[in-house]
Amino acid sequence: TYVVTDNCIMCKYTDCVEVCPVDCFYEGENTLVIHPDECIDCGVCEPECPADAIRPDTEPDMEPWVEFNRTYSEQWPVITRKKDPLPTAEEMDGVTGKLDKYFS
Ligand code: SF4
Ligand code: F3S
Repeated sequence: TYVVTDNCIMCKYTDCVEVCPVDCFYEGENTLVIHPDECIDCGVCEPECPADAIRPDTEPDMEPWVEFNRTYSEQWPVITRKKDPLPTAEEMDGVTGKLDKYFS
């Protein structure tokens, strides 16, 4: 599966949702997640993210992100259409530690 990681938080560009063939992105207030069981591993969303927030779970240390994506994709509504990024998107792109500081 692919997963949405830390750098989506407070950016939420949403370019990713338009290209997903199985509509498996889900939207929270500050970030999106991918449902790991619905993702078919096509990889087309990865280069679409301006914040480079989408990673394959084959990279090291991705297990906590898979669980994060699974947990919230089961609670949040699906998103299939691009919308405006969050107003904080540019200033927050690349800021570290966003999960601890801004996600609650
Ligand atoms: Fe959707 Fe493909 Fe991205 Fe998985 S890898 S979330 S199926 S676009
Ligand atoms: Fe987030 Fe990147 Fe999609 S910032 S909303 S994963 S395009």
